[in-house]
This record gives sequence, C-alpha cells and structure tokens, in this order.
Amino acid sequence: MTARIISGAAIAGRIREELKTEIAELKERHGIVPGLATIIVGEDPASQSYVNSKVKACQALGIFSLNHPLPGSTLESDLLALVDTLNCDHRISGILVQVPLPEHIDESKVLVAISPEKDVDGFHPVSVGRMVIGQPTFLSCTPAGIQQLLLRSGIKTSGSEVVIVGRSNIVGKPVANILMQKAQGANATVTICHSATRDIAAHTRRADILIAAIGQPRFITADMVKPGATVIDVGTNEIGKTAEGKRILCGDVDFDNVKAVAGAITPVPGGVGPMTIVMLMANTVKAAKLAHG
Ligand code: GUN
Repeated sequence: MTARIISGAAIAGRIREELKTEIAELKERHGIVPGLATIIVGEDPASQSYVNSKVKACQALGIFSLNHPLPGSTLESDLLALVDTLNCDHRISGILVQVPLPEHIDESKVLVAISPEKDVDGFHPVSVGRMVIGQPTFLSCTPAGIQQLLLRSGIKTSGSEVVIVGRSNIVGKPVANILMQKAQGANATVTICHSATRDIAAHTRRADILIAAIGQPRFITADMVKPGATVIDVGTNEIGKTAEGKRILCGDVDFDNVKAVAGAITPVPGGVGPMTIVMLMANTVKAAKLAHG
C-alpha cells in the first residue's frame, strides 16, 4: 500500500480563495479592512522566516499588516506597552507575538496582555478556556489547521482513536481538545503520549489518526503505525541548509517508510505548515468581523 498524500498546500490554497472573496466583500459592502500586527523580538532565523511568511500572506489577501521587529534586548515593559498600543489601534484586528520570546521576558505575561478580542493566535487563557468548554472564539492556528485538513480530506474523526505524540500548549493540548469536542462532530477518542509515556509505540499502533508533534526528526517509524492509519506530521525540524542557505526541513515522521504503511499522510514541507498560516488569516478576518458587530 502507498498512502494518499494530504496536501496542506492545496487545501490551504482553497481556503485562501474563500478568504479572498470574504475580504473583498467586507471591504466593498462594509468598508472593513482586517488588520494583523506581528511582533518579533530578537533575530532567530526560523522565527523571522515564519513571521515573514505571515506578513506576505496578509499582503496576498488584502489584509492590512504591521510588523514590529524588536531587538533581542527589548525590555518586557516596552513590549507590554507596544501590545497595549496595538490593543487600542482600530486598524488592527489581530495581534501576534511570535514565541519563543527571549528568556528575560515573561511569555505568559505578554500573551495575557493581548486583548482576547484580538487574540488571533488563540494563546490567551480566555481563548483556551473557551475552546475547552466547546465555545471557541479563536482556535490556535496549527490545531485548527489540522482539524480543517482532516475535515476537508474526508477523514472521519467521530468515534476514531486519535493518538497525539507531544503535549505542547501550541499543538498537543489544543488539538486533543478540539478533536474530542462534540462541536462540528469531531467526537474522537483521544490519547496524548509524552516523554513519560511508558510504551509510546503500543499507543501509536492503536491510532486511526496519529498526530506527531514531538519536535524530533523521523521519531515515528513504520512499525509504530497501524496499517491504513492517517498520519499528520506537525514537525518542522531543520536538518541542514541548501547551498543557497535555505533551511532543509524534515518532519517528526519517517515519511518514506511510513507512507508504505499509512492510508493517508501529510508531507513536510507542504502539509500542516501552510494550514497554520491560512488559519491565522481566517482568525484575523473573524476578529475584524467580531469587532464590527
Ligand atoms: N511560534 C511557533 N508557532 C507559533 C505560532 O503559531 N504563533 C506564534 N505567535 N508563535 C509561534
């Protein structure tokens, strides 16, 4: 068997087209232009590359964008003051502070400072709480992207065994919550594995849908996958650079061998990555609509 490749790039492209229409209508009928402010502190190349992609995506869709690149030495109080200014800026529907932040800045303090109405990353405790009780405003982008990938690829989650490897606040915990909810009929039975799990392979081999979000290159091998399972690879591990200095990425799944066992699989790059950015755009449009009643 060779697995069907789930193209996040293609699905994200379709969502982008839907958003383009929605943004044009908002502009023409209501004079609303969604706006996204991004803040990046320091010079981490991976973070810079992610933020640049987000700014470019805004430009391609007609979303107003304002990027604030700040030096790594920025004081926490100055960052909080900038967030406060953006909270009050009517051109800005959504605010994104790229994480991780430098060690001298308390990340949770900064994320809580973002107005929940502008929390397009879905990291604010209010957004997380709303997700947990099944009344979400903004779902965080990677988990929401995974849900859309499954929905739009016709992969049934209701009654399915979903096993997630990784318990981060950005991916593992929220995707577990989203897929177990009744909302939209997700209704999966969810297991989360992590570094203290006794026998990870015993769990992953039960999975109808296996989500790898560990941050270790090719951690999931073919013997850990049930034949016919859907495998979603959230990993973006840098394993080198091309001669032109471009980052070479590899997922958390041993793609070449797992695709011979799985029923469907996402590639890296071109799988979950493009979905994360398009869901950020969708959240920004949603924030703009909510702000205008
Ligand atoms: N760092 C890695 N992923 C993300 C993300 O989705 N949002 C933010 N703000 N920072 C990140």
